[in-house]
Amino acid sequence: MSTQENIPEESTINWNDMAEAFDRWLPYIQPVAEALIDLADISAGHRILDVASGTGEPSLTLARRHHHQNIQIIGIDGAEAMVQRANQKAEAEGLSCLSFQQMSAENLRFENAKFDRVISRFGVMLFDDPAKGLDEMRRVLRHEGKMAIAVWGEFHLIEGLFLIWDTLMKVMPKADHPSFPRIGKLGAPGALETLLEEAGFEDFDVNPFSLSYRYDNFESYWKTNTEAGLLKEPLDTLSPAKKEALKKEVEALASSYQKDGQFVFENEALLASAIK
Ligand SMILES: C[S@@+](CC[C@H](N)C(=O)[O-])C[C@H]1O[C@@H](n2cnc3c(N)ncnc32)[C@H](O)[C@@H]1O
Repeated sequence: MSTQENIPEESTINWNDMAEAFDRWLPYIQPVAEALIDLADISAGHRILDVASGTGEPSLTLARRHHHQNIQIIGIDGAEAMVQRANQKAEAEGLSCLSFQQMSAENLRFENAKFDRVISRFGVMLFDDPAKGLDEMRRVLRHEGKMAIAVWGEFHLIEGLFLIWDTLMKVMPKADHPSFPRIGKLGAPGALETLLEEAGFEDFDVNPFSLSYRYDNFESYWKTNTEAGLLKEPLDTLSPAKKEALKKEVEALASSYQKDGQFVFENEALLASAIK
C-alpha cells in the first residue's frame, strides 16, 4: 500500500534525461506491445496515432508487423530527446511508414477524425491531465475508430519497483519524501473506466494483463530499477552510504522473490479498448 497517501502524486521523471536509459525496460514490457497491437485490430491502409510513444514503442513493433499493409503511423511524445531517439530507430530500420513528432498529448495538433486507430502504452497515467489527453485522443479518432491503451495497475502491484520505493519511504524522513509517483494513478478499480466514460467513449473494455519480470541476479534487478525510471531521482538524493544501506535492506527483502535461481516480480497492467 502507498506510504504517502496525503502527498499529491507527481511526475519526478525528466523524460529528456531518460531517452537512452529507458530502453533497458523495453524487453520487459514487449508482451504489452504485442497484446496492444492485437487489441488494436489493424487493417490495411489504417492511419494510426501512438500517443506518448517514448523511444518508439509500440509503433516500431507495429510498423515491423504491418508495414506491408500500407499503414501510416505517427508517434507523438512530449520529450524531444525521446522523439529523436524514436526517429533514429525508425530511420535505421528503414521503416518509412512511421515518424515521430514532439507534441503534448493534451493538445494534439491534428484535425478531428484523422486516425483509424489511436494506441498508447504506459503514457496516459503520466499526463498532467489524463482526462484532457483522452478527450484529445477521442477527438482525433474517426467515427467507429478504435483506441487501445495500456496503463499500469496500482503501484503496489508493480512488485519490483514498489519494493524499492516502499523500503526507501520507510527509511527516509517524512519531510524528505518525494511526491508520490503517478505510475499507478489509473490503476485503482474503476478509475480508467470513469475517465473513458467521461471522455465520451460508449463502448469500452478494461482488462488486467499480468507480466513477470525476471532478473538473473539481485544486481541486475537493482540496476534496472534504480538507474532509469521513477526511482532514479529519489535515490540520487541519498548519500552513497545511505544508498548502499538501502540496497542491502532491499536485497534481504528481495530474497523472498527468488524462484529457480532468478528474482521474479509480478506486475499488473490494464489493457483497455474503446470505440468512438
Ligand atoms: C513510460 S514512457 C512510455 C513510452 C512508450 N510508449 C513505451 O511504452 O515504451 C512514458 C512517455 O510518456 C511521455 N509523456 C508523459 N506525459 C506526456 C504528455 N502529457 N504528452 C506527451 N507525452 C507525454 C513521456 O515523455 C514518456 O516518453
